[in-house]
Amino acid sequence: MFNKIGRNDPCWCGSGKKYKQCHLAFDDKIAGYKRAGHIVPSHKLIKTPEDIEGIKRSAAINMACLDAVGKEIKVGMSTQEIDDIVVRVTKEMGGIAAPLNFEGYPRSVCTSINDVVCHGIPSEEEILEDGDIINVDCSTLFEGYFSDSSRMFCVGDVDPGWKNLVDVAKKSIEVGLEQVKPFKFLGDMSQAINDFVESNGYTVVREIGGHGIGKEFHEDPFVSYVAKAGTEMLMVPGLCFTIEPMINMGACDVLLDADDDWTVFTEDGSPSAQWEVQLVVTEEGYELLSW
Ligand code: MF3
Ligand code: CO
Repeated sequence: MFNKIGRNDPCWCGSGKKYKQCHLAFDDKIAGYKRAGHIVPSHKLIKTPEDIEGIKRSAAINMACLDAVGKEIKVGMSTQEIDDIVVRVTKEMGGIAAPLNFEGYPRSVCTSINDVVCHGIPSEEEILEDGDIINVDCSTLFEGYFSDSSRMFCVGDVDPGWKNLVDVAKKSIEVGLEQVKPFKFLGDMSQAINDFVESNGYTVVREIGGHGIGKEFHEDPFVSYVAKAGTEMLMVPGLCFTIEPMINMGACDVLLDADDDWTVFTEDGSPSAQWEVQLVVTEEGYELLSW
């Protein structure tokens, strides 16, 4: 697809500059990686400065939801009440909760407790107990732009071993972020996360990963946390994706709930923790957009 634009034509990025004064050298560089056999992003995945501003406005709502959940969450609360908070804050700020009706998902947020790895469905019957660890995964649409982040909350008095799992899951994102630089590969980030998690005695879920995001909720690339360094998509400025590894205390194997077709559990019943951030690759490294 690259290099079909004339040198003096307007650049594909919409900057209004001539191609030769804008993304021509960038495209040539990427084409070299492609010839060498690497996976490279299409133009469609490269966000413009206006796109980034749009995502940031969406992210302000996204993070306000999680801030509100953090203030209100407590023992005895139902996961439906967490959904209610997200619906309320999203609405107050003029956004749309992206999960509702997404591929048939029935609520506005995912709430995943203890051995639930991800995509737990809020319910009035599900009550937070002392010692629970819960992931609240919030995704927001605002004026055409998606944002997506998730946090863990420790409810009441949590076992120190479980707290450590939550801390290692959080730290693993920082370890991954150190690898996010233009012209490195997504696999560099994945392997750093995997090595760090395994050195702490935990495992990383293989089947479910992060994703590109922007004008679509989930777009390319698929972001693995079990890929090897030097593999997967080339990271270039403007590429926007999530880092959201799911970390299990026991084995990495997971099961899908056959009744609701959404809830993912650890096969061995061990607890699982996950944090999620959304970022854009910059000239220098990365900028976090939601966290
Ligand atoms: N928020 C999840 C993610 O991080 C996706 C949830 S899909 C839903 O990608 F339908 F369950 F919301
Ligand atoms: Co996500």
